[in-house]
Order: sequence, then structure tokens, then C-alpha cells
Amino acid sequence: REREIAKLYKVHEMARDFFHACLTKTKYGIQAKTYFLQRGINEKIIADFKLGFAPQSWSKLSEAFQKRGISDELLIESGLAAERSSGGVYDRFRNRVIIPICDERSRVVGFGGRVLDDSQPKYLNSSETLIFNKRRLLFGLDQAAKSIKESGFVIVVEGYMDAITAHNSGIKNVVASLGTAFTLEQCKKILRYAPEIRFAYDSDSAGQNATIRALSIIRGSGANVRIISIPDGKDPDEYIRKHGSAQFRKLIQDALPLVEYQMKRAFSEHDYSTLEGKVAVVEKLTPILAEMNNAVELNAYITRISQVIGVDEGAIRSEIHKSSGLARTRMVKPLN
Ligand code: CTP
Ligand code: MN
Ligand code: MN
Ligand code: MN
Ligand code: MN
Repeated sequence: REREIAKLYKVHEMARDFFHACLTKTKYGIQAKTYFLQRGINEKIIADFKLGFAPQSWSKLSEAFQKRGISDELLIESGLAAERSSGGVYDRFRNRVIIPICDERSRVVGFGGRVLDDSQPKYLNSSETLIFNKRRLLFGLDQAAKSIKESGFVIVVEGYMDAITAHNSGIKNVVASLGTAFTLEQCKKILRYAPEIRFAYDSDSAGQNATIRALSIIRGSGANVRIISIPDGKDPDEYIRKHGSAQFRKLIQDALPLVEYQMKRAFSEHDYSTLEGKVAVVEKLTPILAEMNNAVELNAYITRISQVIGVDEGAIRSEIHKSSGLARTRMVKPLN
């Protein structure tokens, strides 16, 4: 098994170099290179991330690798090729720009391949293997680690291009959760580098829902959380390209603490001019407020909620009291 894993790392590294050479050294790589340049990705980033191109062919990679002594079994196991029903193998990634996915030790463990146009699926990723586990991976962590430690927080984005464009514009404490639901494993991994996570997911409804899910998953992890809101339905990549990195830095700076983000959502989701709405807002916010351990902060929030929705502070306080009583009886051992 150890040997199998070593072989997988090796073949992924070879594939990364193959795709990168296709992008930078062949004439069919030119259109792919143009694609990156048009998206504002410069030569340095192409080199740093070793971006690549998978040619429009069923067998370029497989044939090249077979010549170098790589077995069909290994090609299939790595997910770089799939088995033909007639025997033999064919390349998984064809006519796509290639983004190598590395673990935190900079070992290549998988690939994302994007079409150059609007065809579907937009991204094709490596399948899960012994070395590629999407739930545990954060794209870009190896490149971001130093900056995460220095800045004291990590920015989590959805997509490859969000992370790459951020790096491209000098904002390097950024990793991508690759469109899947953020996991507790990913959270714990991040907390080894910095105590604070700022989510900058796409501002479409899918992104907002993913933010809510992420927040509930990491509750109790001890992570300090803020939420970066990207205006007008964009993702970080589009935002940075349109407004520049200075503007994006401002959004990062303005990230809302978890409680304020939840308050904003609760106020916008419910009609608090009605009694039902008031109850709903308080119900939504009490569990979050009950977890706060700074009394001064808590007080300030209670006052604000009371003023906005027109409910007596004492009533809100008593709901929080009930809710934290529940939290205490449910708690087996204190969260650290
Ligand atoms: N994703 C995927 N497969 C898809 C669509 C999305 O794996 N068919 C993952 C990719 O990691 C992608 C992320 O989810 O980067 C976010 O999806 P989306 O916002 O739709 O894509 P973008 O990253 O914005 O893609 P691009 O900017 O290249 O159009
Ligand atoms: Mn999205
Ligand atoms: Mn995008
Ligand atoms: Mn996006
Ligand atoms: Mn999109």
C-alpha cells in the first residue's frame, strides 16, 4: 500500500509536468495559454501553480506514459485514464485547461480541468483515490500557508479561479474549498495555521447557502469566523478583475463577525413589524447570542436587536437565558 501511494504521487507529478509542458511548450497549448491570459492570469502564476493544458486527444497522455513504463493499471487507479470497453485505456482529461491540486506538502494529488468555452461540465476533477480526498483538501494551502500565518486569518473561497486570481493580485492567504460543502476536517486543518476563518463564497444563492452550511458545520470548533460579502452577484475572481485588489482588500477588512452576519440575515429574512416576525428573529439569534462569552458585546447586540425589531431587551435576555441553560445541560464537556 505504501508503494502504491508512492507510485500515485509520482504519476501525478509526471502528469502535472506533462500538462504544464503542453501549455507552455506546444503550439496546441497556445489557445489554452490565451485563455489564462484573458482571465488575467499572468506568466508568474502559470509557473507558480504549474497550470497546464490537456490536449484534445484520447491518448496523448496515456501513450506518452506507457512509453515511460507506466502501467495501464496505474493510469486507471490514478484516474488519469479510464478503461476502454474494447481493452486499453483513454485519457480522462481532454481539451481542458488543467489546474493541479496539491496537498499542504505541495505533493500533487489531483487535477481540476476546465473547458475553454461554455460547454458542460465546466469542471472535471480527479476522482477520489488513495491520495485524493476532497473533503480533507484545501486548494492552494501550500501556497497560502506562510501568508495565513502572517496575517492571522485565512480566506476561504469556492473556486480554483477565485484562489488563483487572489494570489495573482497579491492576496495570498486564500484557499478554495472547491465547490463542495466545507467540512470539519478542513476547518481543523486551517486552525493549525490561524485561529480565524473568513468566508468569501460566491454571492449567488448557492454561495450564500454554502456559507450558512459552513457556519453550522464549524460551530463549536473554536474558530473565529467572519463573512466577506461580495457585491452584485459576483465571485471573488470576477470582483477582483473588475474592481481591483485594493477594493477587494476593503471587503476583506469589512468582513462581518459571525453574529453581525446572522443578525443582518435574520433582519432581512423576517418581517419584524409583525409579532410572528419578532419571534422568528429572536428564535434565530438566541442560540448564537447564547454562545457569546463577552458580556459587553452581548449587551450591545441585545440593545441593537431590541431597537431594530421593537422587542423589550428583558424579553430577549430571558430567551437567551433559556437557550444557554439548554446548551449547558446538553454539554458533556466544555468546548475548548
Ligand atoms: N465545481 C466543480 N465542478 C463543476 C462546477 C464547479 O468541481 N461542474 C467546483 C470547482 O472547484 C469550482 C467551484 O466548484 O471552482 C465553484 O464553482 P463555480 O462558482 O460554479 O465555478 P467558478 O469557480 O466560478 O468557475 P469559473 O470562474 O472558472 O467559471
Ligand atoms: Mn459558485
Ligand atoms: Mn468564477
Ligand atoms: Mn464562482
Ligand atoms: Mn459561477
